[in-house]
Amino acid sequence: LKRSRYDESSIEENYKSLLKKSSEPVFRNIIRKAVMVLAKQFVFKSKMEDAVQFTKSEKYKQNIFSFDMLGEGARTEEDAEKYFLEYKKSIEFTGQSLSNYADVRYSNGVSIKLSALHPRYERHKYEDLKIELIPKLIELGLLAKKNNIQLCIDAEEDKRFILSLKIFEKLINSKELNNWNGLGLAIQAYQKRAFYVIDWINNLAEKNNKIIPIRLVKGAYWDSEIKVAQELGLEKYPVFTRKPITDLSWMACAIKMLGYQKNIFPAFATHNAHSIAFIEEIGKNHNFEFQRIHGMADILNNYFNKNSNNNYNKSRIYAPVGNYEDLLPYLMRRLLENGANTSFVNKLNDLKININELISDPIKKIQSYKEYDNPYIPLPNHIYLPNRENSLGTNLFSEKMISNLENLFNKKDSEYNVHSLILNKDNISLNKVKISSPASIKEIVGNVSYADDHIISEALNISREYQKTWSDINIEEKLKIVKNFALLLEKNKDDLLKVCVNESGKTINDSLNDLREAIDFCYYYSNEAKKILSQEIFFEGPTGEKNKLIYESKGVIFCISPWNFPIAIFVGQIIAALLCGNTVIAKPAEQTSIISYKIVKLLFNAGLPVNALQLILGEGPNIAERVLNDECIKGVLFTGSCETAKNIQKNLNAREELVPLTAETGGQNFMIIDSSALTEQVVDDVIESAFNSAGQRCSALRILAIQDEVYEKT
Ligand code: FAD
Ligand code: 2OP
Repeated sequence: LKRSRYDESSIEENYKSLLKKSSEPVFRNIIRKAVMVLAKQFVFKSKMEDAVQFTKSEKYKQNIFSFDMLGEGARTEEDAEKYFLEYKKSIEFTGQSLSNYADVRYSNGVSIKLSALHPRYERHKYEDLKIELIPKLIELGLLAKKNNIQLCIDAEEDKRFILSLKIFEKLINSKELNNWNGLGLAIQAYQKRAFYVIDWINNLAEKNNKIIPIRLVKGAYWDSEIKVAQELGLEKYPVFTRKPITDLSWMACAIKMLGYQKNIFPAFATHNAHSIAFIEEIGKNHNFEFQRIHGMADILNNYFNKNSNNNYNKSRIYAPVGNYEDLLPYLMRRLLENGANTSFVNKLNDLKININELISDPIKKIQSYKEYDNPYIPLPNHIYLPNRENSLGTNLFSEKMISNLENLFNKKDSEYNVHSLILNKDNISLNKVKISSPASIKEIVGNVSYADDHIISEALNISREYQKTWSDINIEEKLKIVKNFALLLEKNKDDLLKVCVNESGKTINDSLNDLREAIDFCYYYSNEAKKILSQEIFFEGPTGEKNKLIYESKGVIFCISPWNFPIAIFVGQIIAALLCGNTVIAKPAEQTSIISYKIVKLLFNAGLPVNALQLILGEGPNIAERVLNDECIKGVLFTGSCETAKNIQKNLNAREELVPLTAETGGQNFMIIDSSALTEQVVDDVIESAFNSAGQRCSALRILAIQDEVYEKT
């Protein structure tokens, strides 16, 4: 590379050949081979034609099947259409090439994932899904009905659970699919609500005079459910966190399903010997079937086949069909399932584990617990303890939350009237400016009185005079105020959310994230301030003297924040400066004056002395020039454009003293995509990073570099 420094084209050539010669093809080959080996283990066959033949082999001829055409989480219409056609094809093959029964309960079937059939299979797209997805599902249902085979809707992530039930209800109620008992679904027992959902399904079947096949599983997405709940900062996990409780839930659901035989046909999907023995015990004199996944617990096949026609019917094999491009997410779940140290199949292969431990009764284990939540898995709110609390998040997929939000936003509020807050005076009435909602220009959110010169002078005087007093207040006292404030932000979530959405035009989700980030800042800066301000660092001097490093406040800090994160950045700057003993003059963007007024009021309610923080509302340049030139300003915290940062810098340079400026401006954020990245994940991340918050994050993705080989596909 050095040799050809001045020759651009040869640099590129050298680079390309270097890549070709070295790692990439080797790794690709190794990975491809490894995936092939795993695919062979877990995929029944790559094509339906071959799968049908395979079912007739000696090994499988006693089984019935549910075929799963690999593929899920479509991100494009094209993918969704491809999976739809594959489902149709597999239904036709299953109906026409396998021997089925008149009673659809004992027929073969096809399993489908709804996330494969629509690129936006999300709760908030329900209205679109009614038009774009349900007709397709009815078409699949009609085809299955015509072929008299089962159609089972797989259970996927928790965030899609209620959506799947709503859609399932529509299908069961549909005229087209009446007089057919083939449409079923999978229920995950690790879900805390599984037990109650079975009642709901029973009622649905009863109302429609149907028998609904339910496949009871424990659930395959546990690890990601835990992570998602932590990321969202939910109050509780939607899934159990102790393995024996999942087992118990599965057993309880099984008992309930067997009790609803009139309307539910139970299928018990498990590879766990204890769970199987339990069903054999309680299932005597009942109709049900066992199911297992192809490639897992093969030994069960002989066992099930030997015992079929006794207490229960033929066992069913869940048989994935497809090629390795669509295998990855499915394969990951199988690897997690086989690799988890809590999993039965994993323990079975661990010779160190005693048989009694392996088949121990989950109820006995549960009885020995002091608490039902797993102490090794802290609640989402506690994941950062002992350092700090996590802000509580909002589950936007919860039906209750959706209806709360609808009520909140349907309620018409009167216009807000806000003004600068100098000594918390409420009688200031200056030049009023109307603020209208960016979402609907005609809607007036409120009126803002901008600060005049007199107010600015007063704010500077109060801040200067009070600074020493505030600085002398004990850090513990300051921490208490910030903690109260964080709780008040949480408590006033609805009000702040609504103003944020209406005033700044941010989406509900972005506004909630903005609020959470502000609360996180409170906890984070509190923890940092406690650490930094309570430490005394001593240095030994070479001549024997002792040197001590301590931190102290600077004076009055001027905080200038932007409209795009009107809660988080506004709060973060102020709290950081206040905790360090500075008094603060805050000037938010004029577009988001109302929300900042409300936030400052909460800060005063939390116990902050009104002299410690002055809120100045108005247009940037006039206020900034006046404040920046005042000698009492000892530091500036700014977030916004480079251009404004430079203007502030110029103003500060004119001062005698060197005044520090902390400027957070925009940047060019880059993402590099190589061929090892899963395209679906890349697309999600790129869209989120580049376009969430209307692309207005300073950390938003601006430049995407994609490796040639995956460029077209991405
Ligand atoms: P076990 O080892 O007894 O149990 C494993 C279960 O315990 C898992 O659910 C795991 O998440 C849970 N677990 C592990 N640790 C903990 C903990 N600390 N706290 C709480 N729970 C814990 N899964 C789906 O999600 N959707 C489907 O549609 C689906 N279809 C299936 C179809 C068939 C025919 C089969 C056999 C399985 C299907 N699965 C599905 C996968 C299924 O969820 C797993 O195979 C199953 O969880 C394994 O249970 P087990 O009784 O064999 O094993
Ligand atoms: C899964 O796809 C088997 O449906 C289950 O993991």
